[in-house]
Amino acid sequence: MASFTSAAVAPPATTTTTLLSKTLSHRSNTNANQTHRFKLSCNAHNHKTLKNPQTLINPTPKTSPDIQTLDRRNLLLGIGGLYGATNYLPSAFATPITAPDNISDCIAANAGISDKKDAARTLACCPPVLSEGAPKRFVLPKGPVTRVRPAAQRVTDEYLAKYKEALRKMRDLPDDDPRSFKQQAMIHCAYCNGSYRQKGEDGKPRKEIQIHNSWLFFPFHRWYLYFYERILGKLIDDPSFAIPYWNWDSPTGMTIPAMFEPDPAKENPRRNPIFNAYRDANHLPPVVVDIDYNGTERGAPCIDQIGINLAAMYKQMISNATDPISFFGGMYKAGDDPINMGSPLIGTIESGCHTAVHRWVGNSRMPNNEDMGNFYSAGYDPIFYVHHANVDRMWKIWKGLGIKGHHDPTDEDWLEASYVFYDENKQLVRVYNKDCVDTEPMGYEYEASRIPWSRNRPIPRTKKPKIAARSAGRVIKVEDVKFPMKIDRIVKVLVKRPALKRSKEEKENAKEILFIDGIHFDSERFVKFDVYVDDKDDEPATTAAESEFAGSFAQLPHNHTDKMFVTSAARFGLTELLEDIEAEDDDSVLVTIVPRAGCHDTIISNMKIELMPID
Ligand code: C2O
Repeated sequence: MASFTSAAVAPPATTTTTLLSKTLSHRSNTNANQTHRFKLSCNAHNHKTLKNPQTLINPTPKTSPDIQTLDRRNLLLGIGGLYGATNYLPSAFATPITAPDNISDCIAANAGISDKKDAARTLACCPPVLSEGAPKRFVLPKGPVTRVRPAAQRVTDEYLAKYKEALRKMRDLPDDDPRSFKQQAMIHCAYCNGSYRQKGEDGKPRKEIQIHNSWLFFPFHRWYLYFYERILGKLIDDPSFAIPYWNWDSPTGMTIPAMFEPDPAKENPRRNPIFNAYRDANHLPPVVVDIDYNGTERGAPCIDQIGINLAAMYKQMISNATDPISFFGGMYKAGDDPINMGSPLIGTIESGCHTAVHRWVGNSRMPNNEDMGNFYSAGYDPIFYVHHANVDRMWKIWKGLGIKGHHDPTDEDWLEASYVFYDENKQLVRVYNKDCVDTEPMGYEYEASRIPWSRNRPIPRTKKPKIAARSAGRVIKVEDVKFPMKIDRIVKVLVKRPALKRSKEEKENAKEILFIDGIHFDSERFVKFDVYVDDKDDEPATTAAESEFAGSFAQLPHNHTDKMFVTSAARFGLTELLEDIEAEDDDSVLVTIVPRAGCHDTIISNMKIELMPID
């Protein structure tokens, strides 16, 4: 199994249970300055009747376009046809996504929200144009690692004072300074809500750029944080300043970091530069985060919620993240249209803990779950950058696990993709994915934290379920399904497996993967469904902690320019799951899809299990 060699990765706990009991009874450690007791609560604060956010966002169902009219490529992409074999494109033919040179071509965002009525934040997300001319190619300054990002639950008072001072200075910059807090927040909206177009062959802007739902997710956000951090450091004249990370993958970090919700008796929240009013009041510390959040309160006991979180992390970092495409997201290159072609495929972390934490922090009483619960507004909450620092840390940890298949994409279309940012000197620069694959050359690191989820493979509830054989004749077989299929209720389909009784070596060289393709959903809505394999009828699995749980598909609202329906795809690793439940001899498995949020008009267009070679 994995070897844990990366400097950023602390050795895993011997067992999860010992770690849990240790951390739960432990004082918040390491820093003398921080003496408050480590407190957790798994009950959301004051359960008042919350309006259903879905009905607020999208009162009337929209008509779904005919699935047949979708680009055929989309189907291939999702199924893995193009990914199965690694395509090395020679540079001359590479067509990476390229943000335009001319930022004055930026247009107002369309978040599917009426700017006048509902939007709490502006949709005019374009940056100021400070000078004519193309952005400069950014060259990473040479030098050792000077910035070490601390875990937010362990920062010292001295660090916190610095962090606040930097944020205060950023907030004090005039709104038209590209380094101001507002401009930094708007970067997210611009790159996510259709403000930028890809450069066309004739140099004219074309199809929109979307940095979510594909392999651009990790590198884009890494660069975004890189400049945000360097700007903060510059403002306080400390080049070693590093932003904190919200360590939600470890029990000691599973609440909103205390610094974000200071004691109002001691500090006026309005004067606190890291405070934000638009957060869900039911989820403030010491409530434990639900990183498999369905949009409604789970009400699980504390220890169970922690177990669910660790199990979800294990799925998203190990059993489902078997290869670059599953982890990073699907191929997306110039000419691909995120609207009509759809989003190729969403990576495990993006679809999982990333989306759940956004939704969980966003205020469910705001019309669009501002700030964190909607992409157009997420950057306005300082917690966004701290959340994304941990997402970014997951990229580094995933590569350092020492598992076959855990490497960056090697395709030129990924390596050469580029974005445009203002740096800490207000210089417009172009940055490339290929320059951000490792954090050390970028001058930063993460303070080590344990990764207790790495040993959190689920304990089987039942072995040898033979559910597939027992259900034959009672449930629909995948070959008899008339796709596209609605998933507005629980759907159970029997799916054939490509090979049985594979050897250990065969299993290491090729992973068995369930592809759910052509997931067609309303992008203005929070959408989530869970997938279970060989689940029991009488006692169905309900959480990520159960061995039949294969994973989830989730999407934050993030509308594209005009179409509300978007297509995506998801993958679920079955190799370990079938080992766990001892169903490796069965020739078919029963796939159960459980809609959790916003699925009443969601459809899927294919489902199949294939072996995918791992290199
Ligand atoms: Cu660009 Cu967490 O999203």
